[in-house]
Amino acid sequence: MIIVTGGAGFIGSNFIHLWLENQQESVLNLDLLTYAGNPENLSIYQEDDRYKLIQTDIGNRVLIDQILAEHKPRAILNFAAESHVDRSILGPQAFLETNVMGTFHLLESTRNYWTKLPLSQQKDFRFIHVSTDEVFGTLTPEAPAFTENHPYEPNSPYSASKASSDHLVRAWHHTYGLPTITTHCSNNYGPYHFPEKLIPLVILNALQGKSLPIYGDGQQVRDWLYVRDHAQALMTVLADGEPGQTYNIGGNCERTNLDVVRTICTHLDQIRPKADGLSYAEQITFVTDRPGHDRRYAVDTRKISQSLGWEPEETFETGLLKTIQWYLDNPEWVEHVTSGAYRQWIQTQYQQP
Ligand code: NAD
Ligand code: TYD
Repeated sequence: MIIVTGGAGFIGSNFIHLWLENQQESVLNLDLLTYAGNPENLSIYQEDDRYKLIQTDIGNRVLIDQILAEHKPRAILNFAAESHVDRSILGPQAFLETNVMGTFHLLESTRNYWTKLPLSQQKDFRFIHVSTDEVFGTLTPEAPAFTENHPYEPNSPYSASKASSDHLVRAWHHTYGLPTITTHCSNNYGPYHFPEKLIPLVILNALQGKSLPIYGDGQQVRDWLYVRDHAQALMTVLADGEPGQTYNIGGNCERTNLDVVRTICTHLDQIRPKADGLSYAEQITFVTDRPGHDRRYAVDTRKISQSLGWEPEETFETGLLKTIQWYLDNPEWVEHVTSGAYRQWIQTQYQQP
């Protein structure tokens, strides 16, 4: 069996869906169920013997040690993290606790378990650390995309905490021989994305007649990848990736934020036209920029493509249409996640009455 941490979040739950659609092997999901963790994302597997959720902090050494000894996983994929840059600016502590100390404790529990395995199982074991392109900092418009060898230059509390965890993972491989692999993925979008992040926030605000907040001039550039393509890339890395290596994962699809928001509006104008005949783009509002806002991210994905044969299946256009349709088709999920705690965040971040 395999263990997924943070599997009740956006990318982890999409990974588990893809896994259970394609594999007989069981998945144990270890998730603290913070505001970002939603067991409903996986409710269709509630009765499935191959799936189990245990609510725990990845930093709970006693419990994690017990779980590893009992379930004997052949791999651990670490998705668990505090993941929202804006939250890291307002309150960085949780990011250090989970992303840095949580990863440290998980590495120690894993090492403790792994050293006791028979040699053949030690060799085949994998610890996959799901990281981000944001650890590399920001790019000028003309600069080549980040390669795996780009220096670490994190600029936000979020990216600094992820960078720290990457260094720990690297050191646990180098020093103790733990078979780790770290991946650096660009911005994901798709089903089950918590609507504090740009794409789901804009889709839902548009439909609710609210403003579509663009930070600064909206000319910041992100590379976008459909979440199931990320999940597929992680399955490929788990199967064929080389321990001690790092792999970039991305969609080769750079867009300015303003472009992304305008494209969502154009699609919604066609799929769900407004009664007053106006475009959703009329709701775009420029708001104060994020402090320390990284201008551009772009990832060079030649390594994973050439050495493991992975390529994304979706273009931004096909992936975005699927995503918009998913939010239109799942009003109940939306209603459940936009709870009191969510409304409080939106009020704090955007200072709405
Ligand atoms: P998310 O915020 O949607 O989910 C995070 C999950 O981790 C939640 O289910 C939460 O309950 C759980 N969690 C938080 N703290 C925990 C703890 N201490 N112990 C156990 N579980 C805990 O995040 P996401 O967007 O799904 O991102 C998953 C991973 O991928 C993160 O490590 C993130 O840094 C990385 N990543 C995200 C993106 C992106 O675009 N979202 C891109 C590249 C990399
Ligand atoms: P986000 O989804 O938070 O991802 P990240 O900061 O990890 O890239 O934001 C994507 C981009 O959209 C980022 O440049 C910030 C910008 N943004 C807005 O302009 N308005 C918003 O309300 C949000 C949430 C993000």
